[in-house]
Amino acid sequence: VAIIMDGNGRWAEGRGLPRSAGHGAGARAVRRVVRAAPALGIGTLTLYAFSSDNWRRPAAEVATLMELFERYLVTERETCRRHGIRINVIGRRDRFAPQLLRSIRDAERATAAGRRLHLRLAVDYSSRHAITVAAGSLPRRRRCSFAEFSQRLNRAVHSAPAAPDVDLLIRTSGERRLSDFLLWECAYAEFVFTRRPWPAFGRRDLVRALEEFRSRERRFGRLSRAV
Ligand code: IPE
Ligand code: IPE
Ligand code: MG
Repeated sequence: VAIIMDGNGRWAEGRGLPRSAGHGAGARAVRRVVRAAPALGIGTLTLYAFSSDNWRRPAAEVATLMELFERYLVTERETCRRHGIRINVIGRRDRFAPQLLRSIRDAERATAAGRRLHLRLAVDYSSRHAITVAAGSLPRRRRCSFAEFSQRLNRAVHSAPAAPDVDLLIRTSGERRLSDFLLWECAYAEFVFTRRPWPAFGRRDLVRALEEFRSRERRFGRLSRAV
């Protein structure tokens, strides 16, 4: 399952609060959803927390997001370790502050034995950048299978372990676009869009999205089973 966690700003503005309050509430929604995921049969959960294009936002908002992200890693590390949740930050790593980079490595190391849930937090993530890096890693003039390319793509974003393709992609807050998220990995993903803003998203919304997913017939190019 992958989620584009959108709508923090609008949720806050609708309440007369600063956008930063929306991001704080968004972090609490992350905790709720991560806690609920393993029991719902989710093996890999990839959360879009900060896109490479989000660097274009005002510096103060970027700083708030980076602080929240680091605080999340530090405060959740031990809880995740105890619950078998493996934390993994995917995306670029060449533009983070050194302290944040250390917190990322600490969280990944501390939770590396987790097997109940692979929690991937996409930060400074751009799918097109990742695809470009993976393509650049290909040996010249040799054919490459989809499986091998997927491996290279996982390596390009520091996914450890490599993650499978996305089955279900959820985007909150009404927008219906990918915003440069997991383009290759969503080749056959089912999309569920909800109007609910991310800070208001909870276990029940996740269950509803999974039910919607289960009700769909995935054909992968074949004929319908009903034919
Ligand atoms: C999602 O909420 C969080 C990030 C993109 C970091 P937004 O901040 O995009 O909230 P809206 O879309 O402006 O409401
Ligand atoms: C996508 O949301 C990135 C995250 C949710 C982290 P944005 O709010 O940045 O996307 P656009 O700009 O509306 O496409
Ligand atoms: Mg947004």
